Amino acid sequence: MKLNKFVTPSIMVPKVYEYTDYMKHFENHDIPVIHFDVMDGHYVPNIMLGTSIFNDLKEITEIPIDIHLMVMEPEKYISMFNVKKGDWISFHPETTDQPYRLLQMIKSMNCKAGLVISPGTPISYLEESIDQLDYVTLMTVNPGFAGQTLVPNALNKIQRVRELLDSYNPIIDLLVDGNTTIENSKKMAEAGANGFVVGSASKILKNPDTFEKYYEEFTSILF
Ligand code: DX5
Ligand code: ZN
Repeated sequence: MKLNKFVTPSIMVPKVYEYTDYMKHFENHDIPVIHFDVMDGHYVPNIMLGTSIFNDLKEITEIPIDIHLMVMEPEKYISMFNVKKGDWISFHPETTDQPYRLLQMIKSMNCKAGLVISPGTPISYLEESIDQLDYVTLMTVNPGFAGQTLVPNALNKIQRVRELLDSYNPIIDLLVDGNTTIENSKKMAEAGANGFVVGSASKILKNPDTFEKYYEEFTSILF
């Protein structure tokens, strides 16, 4: 089964005042989903994007948004985001006592449901929830910051996750999040990733004026 490859830009990287410009580029280039990092200072040692920025963004674009929750007890916060049908919500399974229930809840909101696996998190978490999963995001850096380098087990883990997903349900998307340079992304694609969260590494979000150049370069080499 060949899944479509796609780019999903990480909106924690641009400046807030650049958002409107970027949205035009994202729309012109049929970006299917925007990546939105939420950090609570507990699960990860950083605090990032909250509900008000999310709700503002929903007012300036129709593109679905993938809320990547890097928070403890994500179930407490989901209702604060004004999600629409077709948005994506993902969380780290070890941050909640009831990951299965939470996936069901997300799907009942007409959103796509995903689990995110950190470098030290066993992929066996995916097995018991597989019938609820629309996608998996594999962290290829430790969650918390943009601009880090790939963890050593990243490529091998992509392969293992893809194999696991294929044995249950081959249409589950596999996204990679962290240090997606062109060079790394080529290897990640070969290992089985089809969705690429692009933060600072690919330079696609360096500046709204250079979006086109770096996006075209990335996709022409990769897709
Ligand atoms: C990090 C975030 C990423 C981040 C990736 O915890 O989840 O989405 O934006 O940024 P780069 O591409 O710089 O590694
Ligand atoms: Zn992320």
